[in-house]
Amino acid sequence: MRIDIITVLPELLKSPFEASILKRAIEANLVNVHFHNLRDYTSNNYKTIDDYQFGGGAGMVMLIEPIDKCISKLKEERHYDEVIYMTPDGETLKQGIANTLSLKKNMIILCGHYKGVDQRVRDLFVTKEISIGDYVLSGGELGAAVLCDAIIRLIPGVLGNETSALTDSFQDNLLAPPIYTRPREYKGLKVPEVLFSGNFPKIEKWREEKAYERTKERRPDLLDRD
Ligand code: ADE
Repeated sequence: MRIDIITVLPELLKSPFEASILKRAIEANLVNVHFHNLRDYTSNNYKTIDDYQFGGGAGMVMLIEPIDKCISKLKEERHYDEVIYMTPDGETLKQGIANTLSLKKNMIILCGHYKGVDQRVRDLFVTKEISIGDYVLSGGELGAAVLCDAIIRLIPGVLGNETSALTDSFQDNLLAPPIYTRPREYKGLKVPEVLFSGNFPKIEKWREEKAYERTKERRPDLLDRD
C-alpha cells in the first residue's frame, strides 16, 4: 500500500509514523507513506495557499490551484484508488471504513485547514470525505494520522498475531470482552475461573457473552447496526 498525504503542516504528522506499529510496517515495506507540503506547489513568492471567501464571512479558504497541481502530479505517476479529504462534515470513521480501505493499493489523503478547501476541490478530485468524530480539529492532520493508524494495522503482516485485529472491538459490531493477565489474584480481585479451565469452546462462549453484555450496556447502538 502507498499513502500520499497532502498537508501544510508535515511536521505535525510525521511522529505517529516514527514509532511502534506504524514504524515497523513502514520498515517492513508493507506500507509507504509520503508527505507533500502544499506550499511546494504554490506559484507566487509568498507561497500563499489560502484566500478570503467569496460572499464574505470569517475564515480563509484553501486555494484550488496548489491542490490541483499536487494531486495532478501524483496522478501522473500512478493510479489512485481513493482521494480522501479529512473534514468534520465527512462520513464518520468506523471500523468498516478502515477494513475497506486496508484493501486498497494507492491512496491520497488531503488535510484541510482554516475553513476548508474551495468546494471545487471536493467536486473535482475527492472520492471520499472522512471525519474522525463530531468535533472540529484545527486541521485534518491529526485526523489523517488516526485514519492511517486504523488502516495500516489491518494490513496483513503488520500485527504480529494475524488474528488479533479480528478480535478487536467493533469487528462484528461488538466491543471486546474483558481481558486478564498475571497475577491470578491482585488485592483480592480474582481472574474469572473459566479462563483457567482449558476448555476453549467454553472460554470462547464466555468471551462472546461478555462482549455482548458490555456492548449492550455501553454501546447498545452497535447492536442495531448491519
Ligand atoms: N478536520 C477538522 N476537524 C476534523 C474532524 N473531526 N475529522 C477529520 N478532519 C477534520
